[in-house]
Amino acid sequence: MPQDFIREYWENQARVHKDSHVASWGDNFMIDLEIETIGAHLQEGAHVLDVGCANGYSAFQQIERRKGLASLTGVDFAENMVLQANAAKETRGLGDNIRFAVGDVRSLDFEDNAFDLVYTSRVLINLPSWQEQQTGIEECLRVTKPGGKVIFSEAFWEPLMLLNAIRLLRQLPPLVEHDFNRYLKKSVLEEFLRARNLDFSVDEFSSVYYLGSRFLRELVTIPADYPGFSNPINRIFFEIEREFSGGGFGVQQAYVIVKGK
Ligand SMILES: C[S@@+](CC[C@H](N)C(=O)[O-])C[C@H]1O[C@@H](n2cnc3c(N)ncnc32)[C@H](O)[C@@H]1O
Repeated sequence: MPQDFIREYWENQARVHKDSHVASWGDNFMIDLEIETIGAHLQEGAHVLDVGCANGYSAFQQIERRKGLASLTGVDFAENMVLQANAAKETRGLGDNIRFAVGDVRSLDFEDNAFDLVYTSRVLINLPSWQEQQTGIEECLRVTKPGGKVIFSEAFWEPLMLLNAIRLLRQLPPLVEHDFNRYLKKSVLEEFLRARNLDFSVDEFSSVYYLGSRFLRELVTIPADYPGFSNPINRIFFEIEREFSGGGFGVQQAYVIVKGK
């Protein structure tokens, strides 16, 4: 069962990496860019749902950076992730306005129109088919209040192809999706959103960073000399990314959707 295998992978990530960001991804710079991108939409007094919250690493950053949130609820289908998130919440002495529970994006256990803002980061790409991804998207829209926002910060197929095309010019091998990931297609998602008359914008918040960290870095340094994401080129391009982005190379992009009234 592919879904059991995927869930087991995330259960194990929580067992091994506990409350570290590495449980979700080693690329701390990308995680920071995601947090900033989503955080810019979190408004004072808002009730927020983080779907696929993992061990809560990003949720804690949001609560810290946006003090006036009314509530932040995180759900994840991996029980160990939720256990880690709740343990970290205890350690941080946080109150009832932040809570974590087991939940699946394909069937969210909340009333319709319950939240002002609902977001995912790198969660829909874990669903094995576009059919299931659509179910997840519909569920996020269902639990969002009319006039509220849904943000899908996910990995996309078209920028991956563009990045691989430029890599090929310098004989670098193509980057591939992780074994069970299924990157979303921008064209297909946009057709889906337009068919439902949903207003949306795209925040391309990782293009320059991807050019630095997934292209230039491999041309001018020996990757093995800098384990993980410690190569200084990553930080330089992370810093530039915050001032300027664009170019279509950013595999991670955020679709910001407004649910009509
Ligand atoms: C790449 S991590 C992202 C973590 C987090 N959103 C962040 O920003 O760091 C993906 C998370 O999605 C969760 N996940 C995958 N499929 C899910 C599903 N169907 N429902 C709920 N959570 C899911 C995994 O357990 C994992 O914790």
